Amino acid sequence: MAVMYTTMILLTLGLRAATYNICPENSVNSTHGAFGVTNYVQKGVWHQVPCPSFRPDEAISRVIWYKQDSPTTPEQTLITHKRNADYPESDRYAFGTSGFSLVIKGVEESDGGRYLCQILPRDTISRLEEISIQAIGDTFPGGSSQVSSTASFQRGRRQTLPCECASQTPDVVYWSTGEGVTTDTQIIGARFSDGATLQIQHGADYSIGSDASLTVNSLNDVQDTQRFWCHVFQSDGTLRNCDTNVQISVDEMESASDALKASERSFYLRSDTQQILPCLSWTPGDTTCEVEWSKLDNPDRQVLSYNLSTGVVVSSPKFDLASDFGLVIQSVDDDHAGVYRCAVGDENQIDVEVRVIGRCLD
Ligand SMILES: *[C@@H]1O[C@H](CO)[C@@H](O)[C@H](O)[C@H]1NC(C)=O
Ligand SMILES: *[C@@H]1O[C@H](CO)[C@@H](O)[C@H](O)[C@H]1NC(C)=O
Repeated sequence: MAVMYTTMILLTLGLRAATYNICPENSVNSTHGAFGVTNYVQKGVWHQVPCPSFRPDEAISRVIWYKQDSPTTPEQTLITHKRNADYPESDRYAFGTSGFSLVIKGVEESDGGRYLCQILPRDTISRLEEISIQAIGDTFPGGSSQVSSTASFQRGRRQTLPCECASQTPDVVYWSTGEGVTTDTQIIGARFSDGATLQIQHGADYSIGSDASLTVNSLNDVQDTQRFWCHVFQSDGTLRNCDTNVQISVDEMESASDALKASERSFYLRSDTQQILPCLSWTPGDTTCEVEWSKLDNPDRQVLSYNLSTGVVVSSPKFDLASDFGLVIQSVDDDHAGVYRCAVGDENQIDVEVRVIGRCLD
């Protein structure tokens, strides 16, 4: 009995629900339009759906949004506007800032379906028009590829894949992984037109830049060969899919620059060489919107900062970011001894002590 119970807990943990993390943190409640010709909305995000029966410059006495999955099933009232006040049926619904669009706060899978917007003008008869939306969860619908390409990754490095489908004015960009074409692919993340990005299933292992490229911060979950997809919705709603087959190259230099571990939280760096300090506060799959390296005895503590919303890494040329948010020190000298802190978001910070040793020691 006890064994069965434990097994069930393990199974439940194994099927850990995907987490949806929006960056930057202050945009978690910003509202995004439905996108694509079929009005897609993304699970975990606030979306608004336009009211098709709305006409500007018309005196209105009442507006009502309903959800009705088919013309024969009962309709469910979601929100009403009358006498200059809004009456939502639940706090998941609100009106948008213009045109009586419907705001759904934190889309769920069950929000997909058929919606009706009824306008009762003050001077004419009422109008009722429908709009259907489709909710995207953790998987992206398969589709043929417009451009196929190949790339190779090296372990230990951060790498960036350009999106071959990117256009001048992308509205929404998704990245996913899997075979695709006739099967759905697993979504990695999305980027919306206002720059808000969404991490799905792999946390900050990946980030999507403003040019729609995908940066792979951690290769922990990447197979030796794997196919990545980028899906671009243009502002006119059309969708383009492009795929890149990635192969991880065998790098003989793999760990030559890893710092020597002295104990759990202290490391030796060999002087006059390139060395990489691991970020112990990071576990692959964790979500975060920023990573910062600092040296505690520096007057200006910050050594490197990485904003995952913009993809921008700020540091002096003497440092760089390795995979798994490790810190690359281009050429070690005695000044590099000290205590370093890797901060992943606000909560996870671990300090490591660093000593510099002559290169002849190895
Ligand atoms: C976002 O909305 C939720 C629910 O309406 C609210 O509890 C939360 O404080 C909001 N967060 C921000 C950053 O505005
Ligand atoms: C990261 O960039 C976003 C978008 O420009 C900005 O809103 C946010 O404040 C930045 N975060 C930090 C920590 O600077």
